[in-house]
Amino acid sequence: MRSLDTQLDLPQGWFLPEEGRWYAARAAEAGAGVVVEVGCWKGRSTSFVAPVCRDNGAALWCVDSWRGSRDAYAEDYARLLAEEDVRAAFERNMAAIGCAPTVLAMDSLAAARSFASGSVDLVFIDASHDEESVLANLEAWAPALRPGGLLAGHDLSEKTPGVERGVERFCSARGLNWRRGPARLWHLQS
Ligand SMILES: C[S@@+](CC[C@H](N)C(=O)[O-])C[C@H]1O[C@@H](n2cnc3c(N)ncnc32)[C@H](O)[C@@H]1O
Repeated sequence: MRSLDTQLDLPQGWFLPEEGRWYAARAAEAGAGVVVEVGCWKGRSTSFVAPVCRDNGAALWCVDSWRGSRDAYAEDYARLLAEEDVRAAFERNMAAIGCAPTVLAMDSLAAARSFASGSVDLVFIDASHDEESVLANLEAWAPALRPGGLLAGHDLSEKTPGVERGVERFCSARGLNWRRGPARLWHLQS
């Protein structure tokens, strides 16, 4: 039996098809607006939204340092990055689906500073999964969102408890409600 990845022809990554369908629907709601994905790796999650953004004339910004994460998987990332040019794989995977999102190959927090306040419709965060990084990303990217914009991300899981802790800390300090699902996604409206 072929693996799910092979059946769907998706890049290697950690994103489930049902998560991708939800993410693509949210990108569609952004219309011809501005979508930012933080943490792209080889473009698995990006593959769900890049064609939607292209077809709608939306600006898709892809932010990744391609230096791996500072969470519990740091050593795994370092090994994988030493074995392969992962950014090149991302570019190839985007070209294969006829998409050319704008790439910001830099640290997420620095990238967030280059977006004007209220200029973004959807920010999707899937970078380092430790609590402090999740919180720092939320604090950095929330101001870039337009009122009513959507802040969402991956990866609510027992293996990465820092994600839920970071989201919860961000929201409880501001009296915001966040929601979970589908699968390992979290999201909140600004
Ligand atoms: C979980 S992977 C992303 C997976 C991807 N969304 C997918 O569907 O396969 C995390 C990515 O975040 C990037 N990353 C981690 N911390 C970062 C930071 N501070 N700034 C920019 N990129 C970061 C890593 O280089 C890595 O490519």
